[in-house]
Amino acid sequence: MTQSFTLGETLPADRASIPTLYAAAFPQEDLVPLVEALLADPAVLSLSAHLDDRLIGHVLFTHGKLENRSETVALLGPLAVHPDHQRQGIGKALIADGLSRLKAKGVTEVLVLGDPAYYGLSGFRPASRVKPPYPLLAEWMAAWQWLRLDGGEDDLAGRLLLPNAWMRAELWS
Ligand SMILES: CC(C)(COP(=O)(O)OP(=O)(O)OC[C@H]1O[C@@H](n2cnc3c(N)ncnc32)[C@H](O)[C@@H]1OP(=O)(O)O)[C@@H](O)C(=O)NCCC(=O)NCCS
Repeated sequence: MTQSFTLGETLPADRASIPTLYAAAFPQEDLVPLVEALLADPAVLSLSAHLDDRLIGHVLFTHGKLENRSETVALLGPLAVHPDHQRQGIGKALIADGLSRLKAKGVTEVLVLGDPAYYGLSGFRPASRVKPPYPLLAEWMAAWQWLRLDGGEDDLAGRLLLPNAWMRAELWS
């Protein structure tokens, strides 16, 4: 039987468990320096999923702007669910909770770079016209997705401006 998990903003007590969670979810990739740099930014929304007192899922949403536009946008990621607890709705629930919090704060659009088969389940649509901080390979364009939170029909356009932690070419290639 699937046990129930709880969601909420990441607590100081979760911080020590985050490297272990990311190492388990991304065995081929070290995302911990990026995640820790983002966690140091008070404007980044950090949500965690727990089973009892264990951290089993985590997601970050970074606020950004589009060049020459006034709307606030956000970038979803990274997102990690511990392999022992995947495919139980935890990732989907973390995304839904984040989107609802961002919508309440007036964020216009959320961007994500990831598998369209997965993020499409949460309403994301492929090939955003927003330009990421670094050019993507042509084969990644469909993985660059958008979701309007304000009821708008079309995605926004313009260059995405993000905090420094995201401004490294290797994160985008
Ligand atoms: C990808 C990941 C975050 C998904 O989280 P999860 O809690 O396992 O996913 P959920 O249970 O919320 O999935 C919901 C739906 O997506 C589907 N799904 C899950 N993982 C998927 C994947 N990798 N590709 C496509 N669909 C996927 C499930 O079948 C489920 O659909 P259903 O409810 O219709 O059956 C998690 O598997 C993970 O951490 N993977 C390793 C790290 C990673 O790839 N992170 C994402 C990139 S930043």
